Amino acid sequence: MLVEASGVHLTVIDPCLDADLSAKYSNDKRITVHKGLSLEIVPRLSEKFDCILIDGDHNWYTVFNELRAIEERQLLTNGGTIFFHDVGWPYGRRDMYYQPETIPKEFRHPYAKKGIIYGRSELSSPEGKNSGFFNAEEEGGEKNGVLTAIEDFLIERGNEYLLLRFTAEHGLGVLVKKHGIKSRKTLAKWRWLCLVHNMNEAIRRRFPRVYRVVKGIAKRAN
Ligand SMILES: C[S@@+](CC[C@H](N)C(=O)[O-])C[C@H]1O[C@@H](n2cnc3c(N)ncnc32)[C@H](O)[C@@H]1O
Repeated sequence: MLVEASGVHLTVIDPCLDADLSAKYSNDKRITVHKGLSLEIVPRLSEKFDCILIDGDHNWYTVFNELRAIEERQLLTNGGTIFFHDVGWPYGRRDMYYQPETIPKEFRHPYAKKGIIYGRSELSSPEGKNSGFFNAEEEGGEKNGVLTAIEDFLIERGNEYLLLRFTAEHGLGVLVKKHGIKSRKTLAKWRWLCLVHNMNEAIRRRFPRVYRVVKGIAKRAN
């Protein structure tokens, strides 16, 4: 879908485990494919990006260090945005490893190729979601999951970013760099948007029935 947008240049980083993206896009000058792991490629990049989408290896070690590398290399333009997929269930608080051997042992949780069931920490076999992937055996705790990685990164850099989280589709995270927002009015609008949005989403997560009823009433009133 991104490729269909005109005037966009895309840089893709992917080890191409199930499709050779270099071959697929070899004739398209707007697409650069780096075949490899993000933590090998990102520290070698030097160009700036308006937008970065992190939707690769869904584990704490990878996402935390991707963010650190983006920051260290200053890869985001002023006012640029980082998007994340899977900040909600099941990988917000649980690691998944595409290639477990690429993650240092001390950062790898015990894992198994078993499915995940909503509301249960332990994995399940054979039912459950994503049973074909190496999933951390337990949910939650330290250094576990995509959202935990973003939060830990923000402990170091929290003042510099605003984070929005959307619940749908397993969670979309939006990280906006405040530094790039020049006018005070725009920054105040972003802050307000974040506050209202994150409160809204927190109610949706904690009290889904109340949320649905209130939404229904508001929809009918409109
Ligand atoms: C859930 S898919 C999403 C791909 C793409 N964003 C999309 O929506 O089609 C995750 C992708 O991350 C890639 N991947 C796995 N480990 C990676 C790593 N360490 N660095 C970069 N990409 C990785 C996989 O090969 C896979 O293509």
